[in-house]
Amino acid sequence: MINIGIVGYGYWGPNLVRNFAETPGANVVAVADLDSAKLEQVRRRYPTVKATTDFRDLLSDPGVDAIAIATPVSTHFELGMAVLRAGKHLWLEKPMAESTLQSRKLIDDADHRGLTLIVDHTFIYTGAVRKMAEIVSSGDLGRLYYYDSIRVNLGLFQRDVSVVSDLAVHDFSILDYILHEHPTAVSASGTNHFPGTPENLAYITLFYDSGVIAHANVSWLAPVKVRQILIGGSKKMIAYDDLEPSEKIKVYDKGVSFTDDPQQIHEMRVGYRTGDMWAPRLGVTEALRTESEHFIDCIEHGTAPETGGALGLRVVELIEGATASMRGRGETVYIQRQGRAA
Ligand SMILES: NC(=O)c1ccc[n+]([C@@H]2O[C@H](COP(=O)([O-])OP(=O)(O)OC[C@H]3O[C@@H](n4cnc5c(N)ncnc54)[C@H](O)[C@@H]3O)[C@@H](O)[C@H]2O)c1
Repeated sequence: MINIGIVGYGYWGPNLVRNFAETPGANVVAVADLDSAKLEQVRRRYPTVKATTDFRDLLSDPGVDAIAIATPVSTHFELGMAVLRAGKHLWLEKPMAESTLQSRKLIDDADHRGLTLIVDHTFIYTGAVRKMAEIVSSGDLGRLYYYDSIRVNLGLFQRDVSVVSDLAVHDFSILDYILHEHPTAVSASGTNHFPGTPENLAYITLFYDSGVIAHANVSWLAPVKVRQILIGGSKKMIAYDDLEPSEKIKVYDKGVSFTDDPQQIHEMRVGYRTGDMWAPRLGVTEALRTESEHFIDCIEHGTAPETGGALGLRVVELIEGATASMRGRGETVYIQRQGRAA
């Protein structure tokens, strides 16, 4: 049995407590939050769980094996390092830290101590993203052309991070998981409409050596909530709508072909193909449940998590690159390739 402590019981923390409470092999023993009103909710729902305003109570408790940090991003590094120094396994919310430097330190420290470090890039554990990765790697789409995402809604405005850190991180992790390729360059435009606050709207383009181009439009200032991704290939294309209750993914047998037949040089050389649409069946287990079981399994067997520090670091590299580009009004920023092992 792995005893878990959770730090941060705001918006996301309660989802972690609920999922770990239902995960075989895991036992939620303590929750920490600075806000005692939130701890009252913990006491009412989980009377046997210790609730404290001081997260150091979890560090000093020899009965706690692993700690999940679900606090604002600006606190991840300090709290995460304290967890590792206390010799406990670490679950860090996305993004893992504010900078690549901090991310590397967390990774090195976890490695050095032989502790498990997982970064909660939840989308990687959804049935939809797993199915898209399976379809892409089967070659069914043919040569990949593009990834195009819209992830917009009204709020929740974050005080410490921009919309890139809050929403585009999902696209960065999904792209990493599906393409197995790190972009070579990023160009981003974005703005904050309210002085002194982080960017609340951004358009980010990622360029890949393979020729794939990826784009994400992320915003906290949209009148409607949209969560859509299109992936286009030479043979087929995927449309993914995360807000669809069922049939989130549709695979279209559509595409274009060009002929370079010299006989047809004066004619339109493009041919269009429109075939069937197929909606594959998806796994329905809650992503956080799959991920919490995976975390416990990694701790028990000493294996590397699918969303470990290496993926977390590559995502932070893209946040840094996109942020630098935004602040340079869309100038191209080249991504250093140290994140992904060859
Ligand atoms: N994986 C996902 O899909 C997903 C979704 C939402 C949020 N998140 C991540 O979860 C983290 C938290 O986001 P949120 O929206 O829940 O924030 P939030 O502001 O709603 O909650 C954060 C909580 O942490 C507490 N806190 C802050 N510092 C603390 C400390 N030192 N000790 C104890 N408690 C402390 C606050 O009192 C607050 O209750 C962020 O990293 C965010 O990016 C992930």
